[in-house]
Amino acid sequence: MISMNTVTLCYLLASVCFIQALKGLSHPASSRRGNLFGMVGMALAIATTAVLIYSLAPAGKELSGLLRVLIGLVIGGILGTLMARRVEMTKMPELVAFMHSMIGLAAVAIAIAVVLEPVAFGIGSAEFALPMGNRVELALGALVGAITFSGSVIAFGKLSGKYKFRLFQGAPVTFKGQHWLNLLLGLLALGCGVIFVMTQAWWAFGVLLALSFLLGVMLIIPIGGADMPVVVSMLNSYSGWAAAGIGFSLNNSMLIIAGSLVGSSGAILSYIMCKAMNRAFFNVILGGFGANPGASAGGADQGNRSVKSGSAEDAAFMMSNAESVVIVPGYGLAVARAQHALKELSDKLTSQGVTVRYAIHPVAGRMPGHMNVLLAEAEMPYEQVFEMDDINSEFAQTDVVLVLGANDVVNPAAKNDPASPIAGMPILEAYKARTVIVNKRSMAAGYAGLDNELFYMDKTMMVFGDAKKAIEDMVKAL
Ligand code: TAP
Repeated sequence: MISMNTVTLCYLLASVCFIQALKGLSHPASSRRGNLFGMVGMALAIATTAVLIYSLAPAGKELSGLLRVLIGLVIGGILGTLMARRVEMTKMPELVAFMHSMIGLAAVAIAIAVVLEPVAFGIGSAEFALPMGNRVELALGALVGAITFSGSVIAFGKLSGKYKFRLFQGAPVTFKGQHWLNLLLGLLALGCGVIFVMTQAWWAFGVLLALSFLLGVMLIIPIGGADMPVVVSMLNSYSGWAAAGIGFSLNNSMLIIAGSLVGSSGAILSYIMCKAMNRAFFNVILGGFGANPGASAGGADQGNRSVKSGSAEDAAFMMSNAESVVIVPGYGLAVARAQHALKELSDKLTSQGVTVRYAIHPVAGRMPGHMNVLLAEAEMPYEQVFEMDDINSEFAQTDVVLVLGANDVVNPAAKNDPASPIAGMPILEAYKARTVIVNKRSMAAGYAGLDNELFYMDKTMMVFGDAKKAIEDMVKAL
């Protein structure tokens, strides 16, 4: 038997671990420690819950309840381990979207179970209805959980980009009256929630769920490629609030605290990313922001314009003659898995007396912190890595900028072309440097599907080819 005081104390300790985890994850240097705190906190929370389930089970049924929890833990643990070991860095955002969908689905499943069998969860009694407060929490938890689930499934499809299904494709799905339809769906869902709260009518709960699933799809389909990072972090936030809502229903302080931490940190991250992409936060929450039907799909006219191109050897020569080189990593670097080759290049240049720094855009790559993780994996010294705001003023004094598999994050159209879909988005001001070297495989557009004026500037030299091969050739030439 475990006392409720001990349970609360253990949950409190686990919560402190989660807060320490978030703190640790705020910097690459402390992120391993942060992860460790997260793992310890989660292990403590799970162990406490398992012991609690054992203690609360009716006499004679203790082991069967615990056994079911253990079976779930083993299956989930094995699947989680396999997925974590197999996932490639470039597939990480899809994995995150998948995880969010599971949290949303779990919240919905628990809400349904509580509405069906409240007594089994220690809520209400066989003769009496669910207390009003619980009905409010369940309706809200189910609404947010269902939106999180279906929204994350669409985000997963859009991020993976390998499914033919139209709703899973990067291009926004828009139609006339979309926002009004979303508003109507939202109001109908809320109306059903109110009916459920007032009457505990089953049908109202069912319709609420169906409308919320639909709303999740409708909110995410109009969002186009360039805005996906915010969607992922917004769904992260939603999944936290869904968990917190269910925590209230189950009277579980751990779920409430962990859910609120995820919910609020996800919201803060969404806000930071909105700022980095110059988007209005509330447009994101309401869905369908930033979709620009006029956006060029894949920069079709790019092939007709001429660019200056050179070899990896030319690039090596230019860099070895420079005093300062700023490297801008992007999604292509992750695709090519060229981080270790890049470390070699950077070491070579540094040993030749060149000052090498890295410039990180907050939404470079396909997930928050993607480039930081990539550089950390190759053990790039943290003091060489600079965030956008800290390095932008340095570009004008930089001899050579080496852009590796990055496109949108250095696109001057964001600053110079008010009609561009990315107008106003802060960029790394690589175009201000004395010389720019851009490595990519072709003239194909980046994630936002836009042409990039930087490639056509007189001071720019394109080095075509896979990033890993190009960097290895640069190292050889040095
Ligand atoms: P992108 O704009 O997507 O550009 C990446 C470039 O890398 C492409 O133009 C591609 O050109 C090149 N590339 C691909 N594979 C390569 C390889 N093996 N070797 C060399 N180059 C390669 O990437 P970015 O500049 O990092 O910008 C990020 C974009 O993604 C932003 O629009 C952002 O909003 C969006 N996004 C970000 C996130 C997060 S959270 N960071 C999440 C989702 C979306 P080629 O095909 O010609 O090689």
